Amino acid sequence: MQLTYFGHSCFSVAAGGRTLLFDPFITPNPLAAHIDVDTVSADYLLLSHGHADHLADAAAIAKRTGATVIAPFEVGNWIAGQGVAKVRHMNHGGRASFDFGTVKLTNAIHSSSLPDGSYGGNPAGFLVTVSGESFYYSGDTALTLDMQLIGASARLRFAVLPIGDHFTMGCEDALTASRFLQCDQIVGAHYDTFPPIKIDHARAVALFQQAGKTLHLPAIGGSLDF
Ligand code: NI
Ligand code: MN
Repeated sequence: MQLTYFGHSCFSVAAGGRTLLFDPFITPNPLAAHIDVDTVSADYLLLSHGHADHLADAAAIAKRTGATVIAPFEVGNWIAGQGVAKVRHMNHGGRASFDFGTVKLTNAIHSSSLPDGSYGGNPAGFLVTVSGESFYYSGDTALTLDMQLIGASARLRFAVLPIGDHFTMGCEDALTASRFLQCDQIVGAHYDTFPPIKIDHARAVALFQQAGKTLHLPAIGGSLDF
């Protein structure tokens, strides 16, 4: 599985012969100014919740690529209303099958309202399984004991977790989350984009290292193989 990071909480994973793109927020992100959003590919677009820093480019990318959107029910309704044709509306605890594998919607402790002010349902994360190999993207969330259920139910190759604090978990809670998830390979997200979530990279990496785990902070546009 190859992960490519596009800044903030946006990344793609190439797996099962498909490209899964998560939470696109590229054009409004000054840190991602060198990314040409029109070159970002997607067969599937997974949206965790309704906040603009997770779906600013979603409708445009879905229309250009013809990608199928996978999202919590209310977010799915919203993007269908933006003229996106292929939408799989899901809800928490449910698993669905696709041509690359399966997706299960997981709990996240956060909020979710859409850019037009409409109700976004509950925010979600995703457990993705491709040919018996799984990875987890928590979405924006606080630390929650529910993550133990994910660690007990799937062997994770890697997990993408927010580490920026203020709006989501910070590094210390993300380290605890990695223990709950029984996962040693963590990719950091939701940091540096805005002043309240700027972090000390060296300190964050050292924190995980001291626990025998790896925190990956790929450059924006950079890729990692898992
Ligand atoms: Ni959010
Ligand atoms: Mn966010």
